[in-house]
Amino acid sequence: MNAKLCSIGLLTLLLSVHGPLCANDTLPLPEPRLTGGMPLFEALNKRQSMRSFSEQPLSPEQLSGLLWAAFGINRGDGRRTAPSARNWQQFDIYLIMAGGWYVYEPVAHALVKLGDEDLRHYAGGQEWVREAPLNLIFVSDHDRMQGGSRDHRDFYSATDVGFISQNVYLYCASEGLATVVRGVVDRQRLHEVLQLRPSQHVILGQTVGHPAP
Ligand SMILES: Cc1cc2nc3c(=O)[nH]c(=O)nc-3n(C[C@H](O)[C@H](O)[C@H](O)COP(=O)(O)O)c2cc1C
Repeated sequence: MNAKLCSIGLLTLLLSVHGPLCANDTLPLPEPRLTGGMPLFEALNKRQSMRSFSEQPLSPEQLSGLLWAAFGINRGDGRRTAPSARNWQQFDIYLIMAGGWYVYEPVAHALVKLGDEDLRHYAGGQEWVREAPLNLIFVSDHDRMQGGSRDHRDFYSATDVGFISQNVYLYCASEGLATVVRGVVDRQRLHEVLQLRPSQHVILGQTVGHPAP
């Protein structure tokens, strides 16, 4: 992987102008905020699926907080904000945005740009999926689930994605963002366009953005 680092300032450009980075560039995210936010019970009370989005992109701080909340590293031993069976940590989060597509790298807390194309029309069949600024695609890598049978790998991929998705829901509730998790995704097509390995499996999508006015 090209290790060239791009400056934080480019992130704003990336989100507003689209595509100033090259494939395989690593884009550090701002440090996530680890305190504050809405009290848990208020966030639980506001958690809901919303399906109407404005095109306004997320700020770098929101992207950082969202990804950290979803499946960031929250302990010195590398464990994460969401549990995973046998601590397999089998999920990668791919991001589909107007200006390109990325994968979240939790150790560096960074995005790795994988391509410039706007893949939003592959992110899901529902109309608003193509208009929202961000679609997360949760991808399970069976190669990381060592010692599990095929049935176990499928089962725990289906269970463990729920924790990540709920973290996204709670972050969005806390931040006043709109989100909906989606099972209606063309997994085979996404597998092709995201150039996934045979061991990787698309499980769910989740659309995120500012609520439409
Ligand atoms: C595994 C799963 C798959 C879902 N797939 C979709 C989907 O493809 N499209 C959609 O609009 N909503 C989808 N939803 C959202 C549900 O419709 C929603 O959670 C449900 O109606 C309850 O609403 P609430 O989340 O506001 O409580 C999905 C939810 C789950 C848990």
